[in-house]
Amino acid sequence: MEHTGQPSWTIDDSIRLAKLLPAAGIDLLDVSSGGNNEAQKVNVHPYYQVDMAGQIREAVQKDGLKLLIGAVGMITTAEMARDIVQEGDGLVPKADIVLIARQFLREPEFPLRAAHQLGVEVKWPIQYHRAGWAKDAKV
Ligand SMILES: Cc1cc2nc3c(=O)[nH]c(=O)nc-3n(C[C@H](O)[C@H](O)[C@H](O)COP(=O)(O)O)c2cc1C
Repeated sequence: MEHTGQPSWTIDDSIRLAKLLPAAGIDLLDVSSGGNNEAQKVNVHPYYQVDMAGQIREAVQKDGLKLLIGAVGMITTAEMARDIVQEGDGLVPKADIVLIARQFLREPEFPLRAAHQLGVEVKWPIQYHRAGWAKDAKV
């Protein structure tokens, strides 16, 4: 809401809030954003909230605080989800976990497909016995 010239909640405020949470017994912060004012201008695009998660995670970790950070919003592919949490080889994760909503509505088997695409072995539900994708299937 900065564009209105009125005082506004900023990323620095979120960082200050995040740093208070571990002492209050909170383990995980899901970083989202939203509208409660019609004058708000949210520039919606893939990753639009993920960078905020990354900034908060970096600040919390810098202070040695223990708070897991979740990223949400328009995460629709296995690669996106992986890239957000991946570390090693100089990569700094933007979040510790991703949380997905609308893609589950479109594609209820999303976690099974994502695991298959990323080559991660997961246990399929018993009802899928002999119904899982073949090892090399392109899905
Ligand atoms: C129509 C709609 C309105 C939403 N409004 C808010 C909101 O006001 N505040 C908020 O923090 N998140 C809001 N969300 C985000 C959801 O809480 C949730 O984090 C999000 O749907 C997850 O992202 P995904 O559905 O793209 O996977 C909204 C989502 C949708 C689809």
